[in-house]
Amino acid sequence: MSQELKTKAHLIYINGEWSGADLDELEVVNPANGQVIGCVPNAGEVEAHEAIEAAHQAFQTWSQTTAYERAGYLKKFHALILEHQEELAQIMTKEMGKPINESRGEVASAASFLEWYAEEGKRVYGETIPTHTQNKRLQVWKKPVGVVAAITPWNFPAAMLTRKMGPALAAGCTIVIKPSGDSPLTAIKMVELSEQAGFPKGVINLVTGSSSKIGKAIMENDKVRKVTFTGSTEVGKMLIQQSAHQVKRLSLELGGHAPVIILNDANIDAAVEGVVASAFRNAGQTCVCANRIYVQSGVHEEFVDKFTKAVNLLKVGNGAEETVTVGPLINQASVQKVRHHVEDALAKGATLLTGGVSLENDGGNFYAPTVLSDVTASMVVMHEETFGPVAPIQKVETIEEAIALANDTPYGLAAYVFTESVSQGTRLIEQLQYGIVGWNDGVPSATQAPFGGMKESGFGREGGHEGIESYLESQYVSMGIN
Ligand code: SIN
Repeated sequence: MSQELKTKAHLIYINGEWSGADLDELEVVNPANGQVIGCVPNAGEVEAHEAIEAAHQAFQTWSQTTAYERAGYLKKFHALILEHQEELAQIMTKEMGKPINESRGEVASAASFLEWYAEEGKRVYGETIPTHTQNKRLQVWKKPVGVVAAITPWNFPAAMLTRKMGPALAAGCTIVIKPSGDSPLTAIKMVELSEQAGFPKGVINLVTGSSSKIGKAIMENDKVRKVTFTGSTEVGKMLIQQSAHQVKRLSLELGGHAPVIILNDANIDAAVEGVVASAFRNAGQTCVCANRIYVQSGVHEEFVDKFTKAVNLLKVGNGAEETVTVGPLINQASVQKVRHHVEDALAKGATLLTGGVSLENDGGNFYAPTVLSDVTASMVVMHEETFGPVAPIQKVETIEEAIALANDTPYGLAAYVFTESVSQGTRLIEQLQYGIVGWNDGVPSATQAPFGGMKESGFGREGGHEGIESYLESQYVSMGIN
């Protein structure tokens, strides 16, 4: 463990000042070995209101800067993140367990949102609408929505931050960041880099600490005009209720339960590769992880056999080791949840093909990559998000059966389809109620593409040109002229 991480006084950042040394501390624990790697201030309502006030003051001037000026800051920030890619990746792996190569990839992806939105901010055009009368001109002006509160998750501590910061700052909004208590150190390092990039005081603020107290301040303070949240559907529903009082804008990227459909004509080797990547990336702790796999009977045996062999090649361990491909789960509660899902499936008749055990490596929260076959819809794993390294496989006969099973969920974030037939794939995807579909692709996320869900997986899109829209208001101007 780096001495720096162990001893460094991590602070909160309000109005361009680092503070919070006088507050109680919260420990940050390495899930690979249970060791405390740092502490952050346990801030609450007072600090959150201060951060919001700072963001509100800064908004008065930041919102008046040009898109080109804002792009300058974002590009410096982008370059600094890439310069510190290795340091950020090491912090990320220590605080949330992700294999180091995935952490490096996430830092690169995080940086890309800043660069992309630096440019996209220059293309916020507004509109001129053809007039219906000689003495009027009609226009739509685009304005930043105001102070944004960004509540970010532990599983992608860098990319989910910049996927919100990039468009918010490019649009002319200022921001208050509340990172997850499980992985705040990456966010703190990123904000240090934003300070080096020279953003004016108050444009970016960060508070760590009590989710309920900081959340309460965010939802009660009418200076926060928009809340962007990535996390559970349960918390998302609470935010919807709380936002009603002040009609705050919301973007919600919530839970998922992604189905995979593999048809008889699929390229099975490609399907195996895609599903392993989707199901076991970040130890199965992504909102878009393959949660349930429906395989048509003609290729079921071949897929199950090749997939199980591929899963057996994954290497579980401390993500800091270069060769590890599956790190720990974030905490013991997650291990318990995964265990419950697997035990429930086995009790109801599933067959265990590999895994099915928690691993006591070095005091970390490890669970073996697990493959189950003969699963049915009655099993918890087939309708609740596992958020762990478990891949349950169900045999299906027809495409219609697969579609009905895939859509039989309140969630609608991501789905995956493997087929070589353009016609079958097109007809199938047209019927899937999901915001993202990977067609012969297990990792569909891309900076320039919209990411978000249907149904109870949330609303609003992050990434791509849609990602900046939710930080903008349309102001219609009807001009009377002589
Ligand atoms: C998520 O799990 O929310 C993000 C995953 C991704 O960007 O691929």
